[in-house]
Amino acid sequence: MSTKKDIRNEVSRKLDSISAEKRKNWSEEIAEHLVSSDIWKGAGVIALTISRGKEVDTYCLIEAAWKQGKKAVVPRADFKHKRMSFFEITSFNQLEEGPYNLKEPNVESCPSIDPKKIELVIVPGLAFDKNGSRLGFGGGFYDRFLPQIKAQTIALAFPCQVIPFVPIEPHDCLIDHIISPDGFLL
Ligand SMILES: Nc1ncnc2c1ncn2[C@@H]1O[C@H](COP(=O)(O)OP(=O)(O)OP(=O)(O)O)[C@@H](O)[C@H]1O
Ligand SMILES: [Mg+2]
Repeated sequence: MSTKKDIRNEVSRKLDSISAEKRKNWSEEIAEHLVSSDIWKGAGVIALTISRGKEVDTYCLIEAAWKQGKKAVVPRADFKHKRMSFFEITSFNQLEEGPYNLKEPNVESCPSIDPKKIELVIVPGLAFDKNGSRLGFGGGFYDRFLPQIKAQTIALAFPCQVIPFVPIEPHDCLIDHIISPDGFLL
């Protein structure tokens, strides 16, 4: 059985080889499936991350949320304690450069949001399986955060990120749904 580290390396390599055009097209397909779902339609406060280069694009989702009068809330990480706080953004100008190439909300211009108000979490990650097992980027941030809330969770995945088996440990939180370019896989 592959270890988490092996899978992170392998999937990361595969993600790097997706062309910019493919990434854009697949991201648009994933976004269409998400925004036409009842879960999205029913959620007023949605937590998302700001996507980085090789990830499924979330900028278009944040814009869709704004257009539909939903609140888009994004995390700021406390790397010492491996905890996240969420802030509402109403413009991409409110983002600033954080560590690890992350874009994070500026705390002066963004209101802090009580995590219990979040109704849907778009959970980032590298690999997922159809049981809902999830492999993140290795910090344990979402595994610490998700048990505190009751929101639905959805992962967005390019085809190479959905693998037959993701090894999990007792602290790992399962995700409720996975959306790939072909639609909901879970
Ligand atoms: N709820 C928790 N309480 C204490 N330690 C935790 C908890 N969740 C995760 N950890 C620790 O965090 C480390 C990273 O966990 P893991 O490999 O599952 O990260 P990940 O799921 O990839 O990260 P992320 O959730 O940030 O995407 C592990 O050493 C794990 O023991
Ligand atoms: Mg984990």
